[in-house]
Amino acid sequence: MTKLIAGNWKMNGSLAANQALVQAMLEGLQGIEPKAEMALCAPSLYLAQMQSLLTGSAIAWGAQDVSAQEQGAFTGEISAAMLKDFACRYAIVGHSERRQYHAESDAAVASKAQRALAAGVTPIVCVGETLAERDANQTEAVVKRQLAAVIHAVAHCTSEIVVAYEPVWAIGTGKTATPEMAQAVHAVLRKQISAATQHPERVKILYGGSMNAANAASLLAQPDIDGGLIGGASLKAADFLQIVAAAQL
Ligand code: PGA
Repeated sequence: MTKLIAGNWKMNGSLAANQALVQAMLEGLQGIEPKAEMALCAPSLYLAQMQSLLTGSAIAWGAQDVSAQEQGAFTGEISAAMLKDFACRYAIVGHSERRQYHAESDAAVASKAQRALAAGVTPIVCVGETLAERDANQTEAVVKRQLAAVIHAVAHCTSEIVVAYEPVWAIGTGKTATPEMAQAVHAVLRKQISAATQHPERVKILYGGSMNAANAASLLAQPDIDGGLIGGASLKAADFLQIVAAAQL
C-alpha cells in the first residue's frame, strides 16, 4: 500500500516559521513525484494557514487532537466538525503526550476517534508502551488494549483509521526501536486489525519515535510498517523530504 509520512509539529511554529517550512517543503518537492502520501499535523490555531498554504499541493494537513464531544459548552475544545471546516484530512488522537499530560484514557481516545470519523476526518490513533511496560513484557498487552478500545468504539469503521505505533521511550529521545522491534509490534497490530475488519488492507500502521532521515529507510522496509509519524524531523524540510524519499511502495 502507499505509505504515509505524517509530520507532527507538536507545539512548535509561528506564522512566519510555518510559512518558511512549508514553502521549503513545497520547493523541495518540485519536479518530484513522491511515492508516499504526506501530511502535516499543525497546532490547531494554524490550520487556516495550512489550508491556504497547502491547498492544491501533494501535502494534506491535520490536527494533533480533537474533542471527544460533538459541540457545546466545552471551553477550549475544538470539534471534529471544526477541523473538517478547515479541510483537515487527519487528526492525531491518543498521542502519548496527551495520554500522559492530559490523562486521556483509552475510552476518551476511542471517543475522539469516533468523533473524527463521524465528521469525515481520519484519526491517526497512537498506541505505545512506556519503558517500564516494555521491561515488564507488557508491550503487546498494552498496545492491544489501547487499540481494542478504539476498534470497539468505531466498529465497522475500523478500516478507515490510521494506526501509529509510538513506543513512548522512543519519542523525542533519539532512541529508535530497531526495525525488528517495531516490526514485531506492527505484526501484532496487523493481526488485531485483520480480526476486526473485512478490509484490513486499507489500514496503514505508521511507526513513530525518533524516526529520522538516517533510520527511515530500514524502518519503512519492514513488511508491516506503512509509514511514519515524524516529530522532530518534520520541523526541518530537508529531513522530512528525505524520509518521504525513503518511503518506497
Ligand atoms: P519524534 O516524535 O519523532 O520527535 O520522536 C514522534 C511523535 O511523537 O509523534
